[in-house]
Order: sequence, then structure tokens, then C-alpha cells
Amino acid sequence: MHDFRYVGHKLYCEGVAVATLAKTFGTPLYVYSQRTLTNHFQKLDRAMAPVEHLICFAMKSNSNQSVLRTIANLGGGFDIVSSGELQRAIAAGGDPGKCVFAGVGKTEAEIEFALRRGVYSFNAESEPELRRINQVAARLKKIAPVAVRVNPNVDAHTHAKITTGTYENKFGIAFEQIEGVYARASKLKHLRLRGLQMHIGSQLTTVAPFDQAVRKVIPILQRLQRRHGLEFFSIGGGLGIVYQPALASSAAAWWQKAGKNILTPEKYAARLVPLLQPLGLRILMEPGRFISGNAGLLVTRVEYVKRTGKKNFVIVDGAMNDLIRPAFYDAYHEIVPLVRKGGARIASDVVGPVCESGDYFCKNRPLPRVGEGDYLALLSAGAYGSVMASTYNTRALVAEVLVNGRQSAIVRERQPVTKIWAGEKLAPWFQ
Ligand code: LLP
Repeated sequence: MHDFRYVGHKLYCEGVAVATLAKTFGTPLYVYSQRTLTNHFQKLDRAMAPVEHLICFAMKSNSNQSVLRTIANLGGGFDIVSSGELQRAIAAGGDPGKCVFAGVGKTEAEIEFALRRGVYSFNAESEPELRRINQVAARLKKIAPVAVRVNPNVDAHTHAKITTGTYENKFGIAFEQIEGVYARASKLKHLRLRGLQMHIGSQLTTVAPFDQAVRKVIPILQRLQRRHGLEFFSIGGGLGIVYQPALASSAAAWWQKAGKNILTPEKYAARLVPLLQPLGLRILMEPGRFISGNAGLLVTRVEYVKRTGKKNFVIVDGAMNDLIRPAFYDAYHEIVPLVRKGGARIASDVVGPVCESGDYFCKNRPLPRVGEGDYLALLSAGAYGSVMASTYNTRALVAEVLVNGRQSAIVRERQPVTKIWAGEKLAPWFQ
């Protein structure tokens, strides 16, 4: 599962006590486990071994250079959504030939950059985009490899803000229109129709929606394969993770008790491989959260504890600008002390210093009593954590540490606060 666990009273990341990292590097602090990243990648890789496949890590979930290098060293590619992400992947040692470029709004400059660098495929999301890619390729005297993203109109039963595969969403091309789009695209001389792509949503906790979407798309895919010689099928990302509770020791028991099934790569593969194998296509996957989610946590320090009426507020130095998921999606992140003390729990709101009522990490959650100077960890913060951070309230972006066994290293410096306004200027009439 992952490599954060208590040894005695202390929370460890692999062979390193997280409290030591907090004291050495300060807080708030993101801590990532290289072993967890590696294990998650390899688990999926092994489960999908019966089909020829490529794992393109969705780097939007975590784009730290050391995280990307970990994935690149394992042979992974990247699912990118901007030319910035492509540059970042290349800087980390990623191979553009293993990158797929997704997103509904690729600009001409982005298409040109990706084409020059030789991405594996543009995953196009509209006909105007296909025409634009064709034009740019013609200008550069190149052939652009493309796939079209099909929107299978399957409800993934996940949070509304992270559903992507229904007609309510901006993504992809409607299932019914796909064949016509490929027929017209095949007339565009500077395109090579290389594959078909889909993505139905994020944080999916059962295999049923994947199964339903794949079954729905396969007949069309086979016709497209015959007509246009497609070489790959990308089944997207979306494998969900356990957020509650996320600590290895308790997670399995909790899920069993709750009567739920963890969506493991083995279960995912057991259902999908038999459907995919007969196609004889290369299978692409774009997991983000599955690889990085439980590989990271955010450490924060308790600054004050105050009682207001009946409420117990634990005020910490981390805030919604550092980890926005609770405020934005009402997401649950397990909160645990770095040093366990035992004793009674008290219903608490853990809140940050940002001037917004929405700046909370949990509400009325039974937590151990803590006091000023104690450290708390927000678990499962490796995906969509630091990448969604902002400098709201002129709060600097926090530092990130990577742990590998007993080693640890700063893999992103804490941002000096003056860098936040470094690009700003006084208008000339103020001088
Ligand atoms: N591929 C495509 C085309 C996507 O749109 C996404 C995520 C992924 C792959 C990766 O999905 P994953 O394996 O991570 O579920 N910020 C939100 C999640 C947004 C996901 C958007 N697309 C959150 O914090 O939950």
C-alpha cells in the first residue's frame, strides 16, 4: 500500500522519522516516499503485463522533478496537459516519445512545441483541434500522431468536479460522433491516426464503470482499427485510492469492516485484460492519483488551540493554499499526529491561517488532543496537493522532501516570500 507507518509512537516515512524532517526542514512540508511511488507503478505494470502497455503517469497529479525522474527511471511515460508539463517532463529526463498530450485547449504554440519534440500522440478533443494540429504539422512539414478522445457518456459515480466522461463534461467527442470524426480526420494529410483515448473520471473506487466504458467503446474501436490502422487504445486514469483511513496498519481492516472493496490493480486488470487482450492493440494508461496519492503527506505544525462556543479549533501553519482539496472538493484527508500520545479524542476542526471560512482540513473530527508545537500529518496528499497550491494571502509555496530508505533530500526549496511578487512592477506613473 504505502510506506508511512508508526514505529513505536513515531510516524515514519520508509526509514525516516517524519518529525525529524519537520524539525530539519520546517513546516508546512510535503514528504514523498520513493518506494511507494515505485511500488504503485510496478504493481500496475505487473498486473497489466499480459497486454503490451505503457504507463503514462498523469503528471498533473505531482510534477516534482524527483517524482518524475522516479517514474522515468521505471520506464514510464507521461500524460501531459500543457507544453509547460512537457518541458518539465523533459527536464526531469522524461522521453517525449512516451508522452501523450491531452487537454481541450491546446494552443498553436503548444502544438508546435510538442510536435518538434516528438510526442507519442496528441489526444485531440475536438474537430477544430484536429484541423489545427494538421495545419501546424503541414507548416512544419511533419506528420502528427493523433488519437481522438471519446466521451463514452458513462457515469463514473465519483465527485461531480472530477467526472470527465459524461456529456455534461467538456471533455472528448461524443460517442455517436466518433466514427464520422475519424473519417474526416483521415482526409487530413498531416495527421496519422494512431489511437483512441478515453478517460471517464478520477478517484473511481469500483471497476464497473471502467468495464462498462471499455465494453461500450470496443465495437467502435475495432471498426476504427480496421479502417484506420490504429495502434493503441488509452483507457485513461482514474483508479481510486483509500483516503479513509490511509495508514497501512488500519486501512485494510477499515475497508473490510465497511464492506467495501479496495480497487486494486489486480482486480482492475482481472476485469479489463480479458476485454483488451483480443484487440491486439498497445494499451496506454494514465494513472495519476493511484501512483502518487498515497505516496505523499503534508506536515503541518499546531500554532494555537482555541475553543469557540462548543468548537475546538486546532489552528495549524498549513492552509487551503497549500492543500486545497478539502476546501474545493470536501475531500477527506486522514489527519494523524507525528508522535502518538494516546488519551481521549476530542472533536476538532483543523483550520489554517488563511482568511476564508473554507480554510479547513476537517470539521468536527475526533482527533487526539494536541497543543502548540505538535505536528500533524495530512495523509494521501501526494496527488493534487503541491501542484494545486497557490500563494494566496502571500504565503510562499512550501518545501518538498523525497525519502528513499534512510535517505531524505529537499526536492523543492521553500519559496522565498519575495519571489511571490518578484515579477511585479510599479507602473511608471508611480515613479
Ligand atoms: N488522464 C486524463 C485525461 C485526466 O483528465 C486525468 C485527471 C488523469 C488522466 C489522471 O486521473 P487520476 O488517475 O489521477 O484519477 N484535482 C482533482 C483531480 C482532477 C483529475 C483530472 N483529470 C482532485 O484533487 O481530486
